[in-house]
Amino acid sequence: MKIYCTEDYDSMSFKAASLIAAQILLKPDSVLGLATGSTVLGIYHLISQWCADGVVSFAEIHSFNLDEYIGLAPGDPQSYHAYMRANLFDNIDAEPGNFYLPDGCADSAEEECRKYDELITSLGGIDLLLLGIGRNAHIGFNEPADAFSVPTHVTALAEETRRANARNFPSPEAVPREAITMGIGSIFSAKKILLVANGKDKAEAIRKAFTGSVTPQVPASILQLHPNVTLVGEMAALSELGV
Ligand code: F6R
Repeated sequence: MKIYCTEDYDSMSFKAASLIAAQILLKPDSVLGLATGSTVLGIYHLISQWCADGVVSFAEIHSFNLDEYIGLAPGDPQSYHAYMRANLFDNIDAEPGNFYLPDGCADSAEEECRKYDELITSLGGIDLLLLGIGRNAHIGFNEPADAFSVPTHVTALAEETRRANARNFPSPEAVPREAITMGIGSIFSAKKILLVANGKDKAEAIRKAFTGSVTPQVPASILQLHPNVTLVGEMAALSELGV
């Protein structure tokens, strides 16, 4: 595992965005896995800029997002579809139809999960997967549990996750209780994983994930078994790692 410890949020974003740009330059038809949330906003901002400047092109890229809330249609302003359009897809030379998120309003969520995994497999799997991490060490919306869930699945969001994400909703009660998330299987099958973290409030999760036991109670701990993980973290988030 490679660890890059950066001074602040901006340098974390720059380092991670550079690694994604390198992936695209080396393999212009890469399949990317993408996260939402506040940590990755700086990365998407830089990539949008570099795309506008002609440094990178998404023309041949396919991407799969990690998750979407159940009950939010793609047009809903609080949906991850809307987040991705606003923060990345509308700003890059994206080929319409090549950027996928689970449909949180599909008639059958189970069928949607199955189709999502099939689509990822049919495109040859994910080359580079960008992950954030929850304070409870979730990745995607794989929350602490008694067992790792392998396929894309419907998951109940932990109350801690709903509280953390309430900032994006009109009220805490408006945060959906369930989501569709890529499972540990697709995450683990990604050829390369790039995990980013900033802020002191992620330090405990990072310590448990990378120095504790591998357990579904700490979902990100599974990454200890992955052969190609890069952690780009702001100093405060890595403060309990002793790097
Ligand atoms: C989002 C996702 C989540 C977030 C995590 C961190 O698609 O899958 O695992 O990466 O909750 O969120 P932020 O960056 O908002 O702290």
